Amino acid sequence: MAKIISGSAMADRLMATLARDVASFSRRNGCVPTLAAVLVGNDPASEIYVRRKISQCRKVGIGSIEHRYGADCTEAELRSLIGRLNSDSEVHGILVQMPLPPQIDSARILDAIDPVKDVDGFHPVNVGRLSTGTGGLIPCTPMGCLMLLQSELPGLKGKQAVVIGKSNIVGKPVALLLLEQECTVTVCHKYTQNLADICRHADIVVAAAGSPNLVRGHWIKPGAVIIDVGINRVQSEDGKQKIVGDVAASEIDHASAFTPVPGGVGPMTIACLLLNTFKAADGLVSHDPRLRVDA
Ligand code: GUN
Repeated sequence: MAKIISGSAMADRLMATLARDVASFSRRNGCVPTLAAVLVGNDPASEIYVRRKISQCRKVGIGSIEHRYGADCTEAELRSLIGRLNSDSEVHGILVQMPLPPQIDSARILDAIDPVKDVDGFHPVNVGRLSTGTGGLIPCTPMGCLMLLQSELPGLKGKQAVVIGKSNIVGKPVALLLLEQECTVTVCHKYTQNLADICRHADIVVAAAGSPNLVRGHWIKPGAVIIDVGINRVQSEDGKQKIVGDVAASEIDHASAFTPVPGGVGPMTIACLLLNTFKAADGLVSHDPRLRVDA
């Protein structure tokens, strides 16, 4: 049987450590690390994600302020809010929940966030820092994937890693993090030919395609470690809705370990967001030069 890598358990441990660090930071500096969460429109999934992020902040003593705008919000309104949050010394992290309504250019909104407060790690400066291995804030889901992998495979050097999916939020940054760990990385996407054959050579598979049960058991090399980033809502045989990953979990007994869905990468994403908010607060309060763009 393949081992289940519990993201819920690892996230709980991370949050327990974070709660202690946040308490000590707040005592020492007389200020509470604070996240501003911006939600535009009424996408039900985004509502759930933002609510969850805010409730987890509370658990570790991180402050949160929610800013809500209707689906008719303009780009100018949103840019003006971000300008205010950038210069508010009581706000350390800014998160703009994606997707944004079509009248708003998401890239321009991400550009407007001060990179030192960009706890999603989506600003081009942080993307550049990640690609050159020079610090900055790292995107939350990729950071969670790496921590889960490292818990199972302490030495990643020289491993063959296959990343399925090339999104800016997961696929590309995961590939960069694995490259930084000296894995040999292949990034696959929907136009990749012979995906099954490529996977069969992998010691590590990170599935982030957003396609339910895409990765089949016979694609997996015996002993491989599998990180399943997919969160897909499907109808089960009894007609109920259920959440499944991108990997056919019932077919991978011969893997050495895998992350379940739910309870794998999801909880780690939020724990890493809290970690980034703490890091941003720590960097801002201590004026950490590694975080400053203009240093
Ligand atoms: N939408 C889907 N994933 C994310 C994420 O990690 N951060 C933000 N801000 N929006 C998202």
